[in-house]
Amino acid sequence: MNKKVMVITGTRKGIGRYLSEYYLGKNFIVIGCSRSESDLKHEKYEHFCLDVADEKAVNKMISAISKKYGKIDYLINNAGIASMNHSLLTPLSVVEKVFKTNVFGTFVFCREAGKIMAKNKFGRIINFATIATPLKMEGESVYAASKSAIESITKILAKEFSTYNITVNAIGPTPIYTDLIKNVPKEKMDSLLNMQTINRYGEFDDISNVIDFFISDKSNFITGQVIFLGGVSY
Ligand SMILES: NC(=O)c1ccc[n+]([C@@H]2O[C@H](COP(=O)([O-])OP(=O)(O)OC[C@H]3O[C@@H](n4cnc5c(N)ncnc54)[C@H](OP(=O)(O)O)[C@@H]3O)[C@@H](O)[C@H]2O)c1
Repeated sequence: MNKKVMVITGTRKGIGRYLSEYYLGKNFIVIGCSRSESDLKHEKYEHFCLDVADEKAVNKMISAISKKYGKIDYLINNAGIASMNHSLLTPLSVVEKVFKTNVFGTFVFCREAGKIMAKNKFGRIINFATIATPLKMEGESVYAASKSAIESITKILAKEFSTYNITVNAIGPTPIYTDLIKNVPKEKMDSLLNMQTINRYGEFDDISNVIDFFISDKSNFITGQVIFLGGVSY
């Protein structure tokens, strides 16, 4: 099959929804998922209702895709949740929830899609980090730590998967105006934007620009990298 098959997690809204429409516009087959139904209707879009941390459900989804298309070219691990609060006020149940979605979800999708990609000797995986990790932002210890784990997974899987012609990279966005950050007070946002080299919110196409680069055929020598937006670095 000639058409590119892309799996994106967390596609009901926000960045995942944008990416689904963007890559459908490029004539890819897009398979998305989220905990709730999606209202995205397109002949080349299919939606699975699942929690990314539900290992059995993820296994079922990936095996259904494998049966139907025989391959997964690209995996975008976008689904994520944040917890923005002082650590003294953060219950362990929140830590568990954030790690389940962000870390366990990313890992299980990498593992299952990785098996299909390994069989086909081709694949590109893009995970989602955040600038909150290098900036060591107060109030985001749990979120930043979960994304730090995603950076480690990205770098180590890049090595483990390289023999199968699979690259694994990550993008670390700045704030982009979605539901994820809509409740963060303006003063906090302003001080965060001031910590960036380029002081502005990110836009959806800042994300697709980096993903386009990672999935380009010419990027087969780029793996284990995390590209932060806004000029942020460690
Ligand atoms: N926006 C920002 O400022 C920003 C900055 C840095 C990094 N990021 C990262 O970018 C990614 C996307 O963020 P966003 O701003 O688009 O967030 P968002 O608007 O809150 O959307 C999150 C998406 O993920 C899905 N989702 C959440 N938990 C899930 C789970 N357990 N299982 C399956 N799907 C789940 C949600 O759908 P359901 O509710 O239906 O499950 C929704 O479609 C995240 O990884 C985030 O950490 C965002």
